[in-house]
Amino acid sequence: MQVLQGVDELRARIRHWRQLGQNVALVPTMGNLHPGHLRLVEQAKARAERCVVSIFVNPLQFGPQEDFDSYPRTLEDDRLKLADQGADVLFVPSVKEVYPRSLAAMTRIEVPGLSTILCGAARPGHFAGVATVVTKLFNMVQPDMAVFGEKDWQQLLVIRRLTADLNLPITIVGVSTHREADGLAMSSRNAYLSDAERCKAPLLYASLKDSVQRLLNGDPDYPGIEMTALVGLREAGFRPDYFLIRRATDLTEPQPGDTDLIVIAAAWLGKTRLIDNYPVALEQLAVAPANPSLSTTR
Ligand code: PAF
Repeated sequence: MQVLQGVDELRARIRHWRQLGQNVALVPTMGNLHPGHLRLVEQAKARAERCVVSIFVNPLQFGPQEDFDSYPRTLEDDRLKLADQGADVLFVPSVKEVYPRSLAAMTRIEVPGLSTILCGAARPGHFAGVATVVTKLFNMVQPDMAVFGEKDWQQLLVIRRLTADLNLPITIVGVSTHREADGLAMSSRNAYLSDAERCKAPLLYASLKDSVQRLLNGDPDYPGIEMTALVGLREAGFRPDYFLIRRATDLTEPQPGDTDLIVIAAAWLGKTRLIDNYPVALEQLAVAPANPSLSTTR
């Protein structure tokens, strides 16, 4: 595996692959890789002949009070994992390479609507930062496809939307959330949890599952389902930003007859902000309203 820092050398490498007729998948990351990231690389390798993984802790997507400085940077460890996983290139651009001018002076990409709800409301400017860096990485690598985790569902929708709106010829692949044995979604930020918080953290996923079960049982009281979860999480010591039942495709409020839903949540546990979600397809409810054995999309 080659480790490249500059866009020119990266492009030369990719040009060579193109001359050989090989297609390319990109896995954008911020490093501190866990098994969930490695699953993205596995999926990229299953779909493309060449796999580029980028590691770039993107200052543009962190708010002024957020953890940009303390975000875990574990490059050597990550390099070994990626080499082991069979990535072809690890691209580690510097901040200067990605943002040659001051952050405030840089052109940026905005995805209206989707970027300002849920996590976008709690983290103003976050999704413009994500959309901008992902678009830049797309232009630098010019991949045939790019692979992202579904844990960041809103991010995935933002990226799908910008790819469509800007006519980028890139297939966006979403990969289902990789979980610890107790259900906690894998995330680099889980390392911030104290031992006591780590014990409580799986309750977020358990609340999502309970809510999905109520939906599958035909419970039409969406505000009631959300409230039960919020109360339970608060009682356990979480500070939820939101816990909502939304349309999976655009995160707007469900309308009567909508069946493609997602239960999606963000909650603080101490200094750690956890996000998670559970997509659910209710098509079969019309046939069998109270069948508890109905399966979800995961
Ligand atoms: O999901 C992440 O790790 C980041 O938001 C991404 C997509 C690499 C952009 O910086």
